[in-house]
Amino acid sequence: MRPFLLLFALLLNYPVFAQPAPPTDTRNLLPVPTSVRWGAGKYLIKRTFSVRLERSDSAVVSTVQALLFSRLYAPGSHPVVTRFVTEGPADLTIRFGKAGNPAAFDEEKYSLRVTPMGVTIDAPTSLGALRGVATLRQLLANQLPTKKNGLEAQFLPEVDIQDQPRFAWRGLLMDAARHFMPVAVIKRNLDGMAAVKLNVLHWHLADDQGFRVESRTLPRLHEVSGQYYTQAQVREVLRYAAARGIRVVPEFDVPGHTIAWQAAYPQLASGDTAYAVYQSWRTANVALDPTKESTYALLDTLFGEMTRLFPDPYFHIGGDENDGRQWRGNPRIMAFAKANGMLKSDGKTLDKHALQTYFNRRVLAMVTKYGKQMVGWDEILGPGLPQDAVIQSWRGRKGLYDAAQAGNRAILSHGYYLDLNQSAASHYATDPLPANNPLTPAQQRLILGGEATMWSEFADSVVVDSRIWPRAAAVAERLWSAREVTNVPDMYRRLGAVSGQLEGLGLQHCRAPEQLLRQLAGPTADVGPLRTLARVLEPVKEYKRHFQGFTYVPSTPLNRLVDAAPAESDVAREFGCQVDTLLNFHTAAGTGLPATPAARMLLGTLRQQLQRWQANNSQLVPLLAASPTLTEYAPLSAALSTAAALGLERLAQLEKGQTPSAAWRAAALRQLDTLNQPAGQTELAVLPHLRRLVEAK
Ligand code: ACM
Repeated sequence: MRPFLLLFALLLNYPVFAQPAPPTDTRNLLPVPTSVRWGAGKYLIKRTFSVRLERSDSAVVSTVQALLFSRLYAPGSHPVVTRFVTEGPADLTIRFGKAGNPAAFDEEKYSLRVTPMGVTIDAPTSLGALRGVATLRQLLANQLPTKKNGLEAQFLPEVDIQDQPRFAWRGLLMDAARHFMPVAVIKRNLDGMAAVKLNVLHWHLADDQGFRVESRTLPRLHEVSGQYYTQAQVREVLRYAAARGIRVVPEFDVPGHTIAWQAAYPQLASGDTAYAVYQSWRTANVALDPTKESTYALLDTLFGEMTRLFPDPYFHIGGDENDGRQWRGNPRIMAFAKANGMLKSDGKTLDKHALQTYFNRRVLAMVTKYGKQMVGWDEILGPGLPQDAVIQSWRGRKGLYDAAQAGNRAILSHGYYLDLNQSAASHYATDPLPANNPLTPAQQRLILGGEATMWSEFADSVVVDSRIWPRAAAVAERLWSAREVTNVPDMYRRLGAVSGQLEGLGLQHCRAPEQLLRQLAGPTADVGPLRTLARVLEPVKEYKRHFQGFTYVPSTPLNRLVDAAPAESDVAREFGCQVDTLLNFHTAAGTGLPATPAARMLLGTLRQQLQRWQANNSQLVPLLAASPTLTEYAPLSAALSTAAALGLERLAQLEKGQTPSAAWRAAALRQLDTLNQPAGQTELAVLPHLRRLVEAK
């Protein structure tokens, strides 16, 4: 910029030094950093890699030693021994200003420089240093070894990275209430979170189906629930998370979602029903009695204990999904509402919101007394809710904006529900603050960030990783990287790389479904054909799994083909991309396909894929017929074969430059419609792509 222009810009307060455009050469980095300048050089890694930490006192930094460098080697090359030194030159030097406190939202900014002379990470806090180390690991991942002096060598590419998060609150909700998640499961997911720079574990610890923390003051709470974390285990998880720069926000959901509480302490109930811990997934609308002082006395005892156990300044009280039916049905509660002006203008109907706000205010006072800030689901927002409550929006984006406009801080989860089995792309497109948001700058600052939620009705400790990863990484990027980072194919490419990195960290998202397939196939059968089918199936979306001819309860084993099917099929998605590329060739050529090698090759790849799918059914039929648990998937295997045959017909037409007749196309589309029938709570993820192929003129 010329000097006079610069002066002009400064006078106008024009953002001359604003963020540069986001990096486009993203390699394996996820989330994409704020700024990346690649150089041409490399830093060669020898068999020993020395690390100098300029503040070895911090507990966080010891994690760098213990974990992040323990597997510092790229696939296919020699292992590297990491050695920590306290003085002198080192391969990697880590400097930071102070030990960062994740609970205080301390800065996570860092710079990472790799030159042919060495590697440095500089950060204002240890949190930034940890984020820098997470980036460093991704620089190394999948670097091809080069030969140097006859030895396999690996290297880090020369680069200058400056990076900081867009949002301070980047969470993952894990639901240990619906299916209990042992400590090891939580820990390996914390490793996954750290790898993609997520920094809040929202631990959903109590629900209708269980209360999962040992309570010393109210022990029946955990005793009636069977599986629970001891307080020592909770502390172990908290330490593990803190060492990775991750905060843990516990959720104790009240007044709804409390059947397990009422099974333990029946005096909490709004009616005179005696409950056992709930053995169903149906929304119960069973709520605590908000009118009895004994309810608040019990909650005060529990929250006193739990706010001491969990040091994070935030404390989540839930507040969702109570439609008030139990309150309306109890004459004593209705009398209380009447006496306290909580009826609607007709003087008869309960103003459920007014009564729940009364309850919320009582709970907020407790939580505040114990030095915490209250977080609740968006139902708690409404007239009378104090501004220091944080709102977690799940029913829609409106809750997020309403909260900020009311002056409350807010986090977004609507659009990040991993349990609904939607695509990474759909989560990725969900921005807490899109450019066209209606908020003022001051209101925008109240949007703290977002959280991916992994509700566990359909995820036990075995399959949960595969329901979280790698899709949660797409949410992680949305919350860390610039708003303008929106290249979907590039995101998927990097998601693949991250997925491999997560496997290396011990996540089971690839291994567990494969093991399940082996179990389903049995010890003698070849698992191949079953895998071919499973990889193009997806569980039905949203909440449909509850409503497809099979009633799930908490004790239903999650070991059917639907549980091995990916939430988002990579095979189907990649097939879809190839179909689109082929159709682009076709559009460009006018009729048929261009006679280019690229078009021929793609045609060949697609044909091979379709032939495999077509042939798969006859290989799979004997296994499907012999296994009672697999039989229900036989129609999908047959449908895959039939749909593939249609695709092959269409490819042949394209190859010969023939335009299909309207009658052929109509019949083919009708057939695809007929094949589009879920079975065993799964659907064939390739059908929409075959439909595009058939529809193309
Ligand atoms: C929720 O999904 N009920 C918060």
